[in-house]
Amino acid sequence: MCEKWWEHSVVYQVYPKSFNDTTGSGTGDLQGIIHKLDYLQKLGIDVIWLSPVYASPMKDNGYDISDYENIAEEFGTMAEMDALLGEAEQRGIKIIMDLVINHTSDQHAWFKASKSSRSHDKRDWYIWRDPLENGAPPNNLRSIFGGSCWTYDETTEQYYFHSFAKEQPDLNWENHEVREELFRMIRWWLYRGLGGFRVDAITFIKKPDLVNEHTPDSRDGTAIVKPNQPGVGAFLQEMKEKAFSGYDIFTVAEAPGVETEELAEFAGEDGFFDMLIGFDHVDLDIKKDGKWYPERQWTLRHFKQAVSKEQYAIEKSGWTALYLENHDQPRSLSRFIPEKDIGLRPAKMLAAAYFFLKGMPYIYQGQEIGMTNVKYAGIEDYDDISSVDQYHSAIKEGYSPEEALKILHRRSRDNSRTPMQWRDEAHAGFTSGTPWLAVNDNYRDINAEQSLSAGDSLFYFYQRLIHLRKHSHLSGVLTYGFYEEKYTEDENVFVYTRSWEGNQVVVLANFTDSDQDLDIELDSSSLVIGNYESDPVLTNSLLLRPYECAVFEKSV
Ligand code: GLC
Repeated sequence: MCEKWWEHSVVYQVYPKSFNDTTGSGTGDLQGIIHKLDYLQKLGIDVIWLSPVYASPMKDNGYDISDYENIAEEFGTMAEMDALLGEAEQRGIKIIMDLVINHTSDQHAWFKASKSSRSHDKRDWYIWRDPLENGAPPNNLRSIFGGSCWTYDETTEQYYFHSFAKEQPDLNWENHEVREELFRMIRWWLYRGLGGFRVDAITFIKKPDLVNEHTPDSRDGTAIVKPNQPGVGAFLQEMKEKAFSGYDIFTVAEAPGVETEELAEFAGEDGFFDMLIGFDHVDLDIKKDGKWYPERQWTLRHFKQAVSKEQYAIEKSGWTALYLENHDQPRSLSRFIPEKDIGLRPAKMLAAAYFFLKGMPYIYQGQEIGMTNVKYAGIEDYDDISSVDQYHSAIKEGYSPEEALKILHRRSRDNSRTPMQWRDEAHAGFTSGTPWLAVNDNYRDINAEQSLSAGDSLFYFYQRLIHLRKHSHLSGVLTYGFYEEKYTEDENVFVYTRSWEGNQVVVLANFTDSDQDLDIELDSSSLVIGNYESDPVLTNSLLLRPYECAVFEKSV
């Protein structure tokens, strides 16, 4: 086994627009991140995943890039980006950037050129097709953000293809000039000293059949565009060899559509990336057609099955990204814990439950202080392009505005994009101006200042978890230990062990508000960390109290 620096790392995801505004513009910026590096260092993380900061018209908050080699004006300058890299490095923190290369913005110079005429030498950099005889789009594919995957261009009288919004045209990866230019750009960034990349929506780069109709999954006859089509691997292998090789970095890919059975091909020593961001454990409540409604019913067992399936799969082939939240997902407290019970204890339980799995733990901004979903009063309060689409398509399908709003309260991507709650001050101390998205009303009770001032806060609990993983006598077992799930059929508790070279760690988490009696023998003196002031009750069995988590060590 060859050890890699990142196997011991913990990642913190920053969503720049919502992190910290130093100019009063209402939008976060790079200086704002620099100002908070001490905070992140105190937490103990090693890597920042920076959601896109490249030049962008921000239709999808930076996931629509108009210039890969420039910084968005609202975020700052390239000099500030270099300063951020330098300041982070001084604190032992590496930065990984988001790599959005399935598509660009429609404002990118490449697309403008491609669109300018059918004979332009960049025409083939994007995907253009003639209309059908009746003028309709080439086929019935529906984009991830709703509506057809095809948008008509009046000037050149052809349709262009987009897996996401119409302002995010897909690059044509079949064209080798496109690939070469992207690989050059990637190396240009790596040369600046990045720790790696989080690679966005990468399994969309190989297009499905674009000539024929697809089997509809919707009453309107459309079919959602499907990622991970045959042939994608050749592009990914080429990217690994030509763009990433030779640098001491890691790559983590958002690769929708990859089945657990395919993990070895995609991630690990021989895979295209170092690890993937799985979806099965967070998409439990939605169906394959990508709609957030009607809510699919799920229980803790489904969650555990998804987690374990991935854990057993990577045992053979490598690593994974461990996460409960990101900028596309609702807040974990709101997902797992009934509203009446949301608070410090369940938040610690959730933290311990996922943090000691095998892989790389990711903390999404605000998760470390227990931020929750937001309930905006009307659709006009939402910004997220996807939320707006889901709301209107629910209404088209017969939901009332109140019902449609409830869907967003549960699922909107804006739940995790509300400004970071720093202090009990106007707009939670995020900005001195008007925030681009309203802060969550609960900032008075839930904010970083408060979390930093209380010794038993969630912030310090995460700090301890990170310390245990990285700097304790349990680091080996927590990093490399084999995973085994216990009590698999149990609907109330999540229990697993990690075992390595004679050491074992047992992680127990009660996801309910009632006592759970477990027939397991553990020595109370070997409790490593928990979320109650007193030890879990131990006689011949273990009584887990409401939302209790307890981590024990054992020799085996
Ligand atoms: C990824 C990003 C998401 C974005 C989409 C299109 O899924 O995580 O935020 O909207 O790609 O780039």
